[in-house]
Amino acid sequence: MAFKFDPEFVHNFALSTFEQMPGLANLWNFPNDFAKYGLEVNGNKWDFPVGLAAGFDENGKAISFFTKLNFGAVEIGTVTPKFQIGNEKPRLWRYPSEESFRNSMGFNNLGAELVYQNVVGANRNGKSLGINIGKNKLTSREDAAGDYRILYDKFAGVVDYLVVNVSSPNTPGLRELLGKEFLREIFSELEKGRKKTPRSLYLKISPDQDFKDLENTIEVAKEFGLSGIIATNTTIMEQRGKGGISGKLLRDKSKMVRKFVMDRIKEVDHMQMIAVGGIFSFDDIWEHWKMGGKLIQIYTSFVYQGPGILQDFKNEIDRVLLKNKINNLNELLENIKDAKR
Ligand SMILES: Cc1cc2nc3c(=O)[nH]c(=O)nc-3n(C[C@H](O)[C@H](O)[C@H](O)COP(=O)(O)O)c2cc1C
Repeated sequence: MAFKFDPEFVHNFALSTFEQMPGLANLWNFPNDFAKYGLEVNGNKWDFPVGLAAGFDENGKAISFFTKLNFGAVEIGTVTPKFQIGNEKPRLWRYPSEESFRNSMGFNNLGAELVYQNVVGANRNGKSLGINIGKNKLTSREDAAGDYRILYDKFAGVVDYLVVNVSSPNTPGLRELLGKEFLREIFSELEKGRKKTPRSLYLKISPDQDFKDLENTIEVAKEFGLSGIIATNTTIMEQRGKGGISGKLLRDKSKMVRKFVMDRIKEVDHMQMIAVGGIFSFDDIWEHWKMGGKLIQIYTSFVYQGPGILQDFKNEIDRVLLKNKINNLNELLENIKDAKR
């Protein structure tokens, strides 16, 4: 029924309902159980291995709702220093039979100050909160690092982790920042902020970089001691039109990129890869775990399948724990090589 209306209208309507009625989450949630399903990564506690990906709650208006669901962590944003209206509408398209979206939103958000008020005013229900940060469209390449620094300094004291986003296809020139030199500029600037307020810091990557460039990107992430890489953002499929594709149409590409990244970071103890992009089933999660990953984020599958998807994942985790005669997820992941599906 909701799929009869304009997708952005439905999205905004749902968000404002969640904002006003966070208690609605009780319809779907189950008791949090950190001892059983929890994972601790770089000092951040995730009550459940699956988190909400960036872009759903750009402004942090419905943090109290999403953290009441069983997401292990909620990532808000992308936030830019100044208010931004985003690209012209329409800018969100759905492909229901393919369980996918295409969007060219362009970081529409209220800007750092108002989002900050939302963050400090929210009930987080004890969950980890991340913020995804980006530059304003009108900020030049030369000043881009400054935008990221402003956002780091503003939010590092009030969130659990930050994510540098240079991988959205919808801000002209943004993906150029994935080049080694620009990334170095950004992370050198952030290093100053990190000295004052250390916080977990991730880089979100695009699935459209060629592997040679990606290798360089990973190098920089290692060089600056990042907490990890979030892989991946949406992909461009020119035949479909402008914007980035998410969901099942992104799945294979995203998986290929994740494998490439994982092979290059698995020896670095403190580095994690958070898997996002076309994750719909427990099989997708299992594949990530077998590769050595722990944490997962979802967006499109959450929209198409609804909040019950978290309960489905929990049921599968329960089944696998039982099958392997293991009491908790942490132990399962420590023994994942020999674990049975
Ligand atoms: C409408 C929409 C808006 C998005 N906005 C952002 C954003 O602002 N920042 C970001 O890093 N990712 C954004 N994403 C990308 C998602 O966080 C995620 O990386 C991507 O959709 C792949 O995951 P999925 O297949 O589970 O949706 C957006 C995705 C969609 C569908």
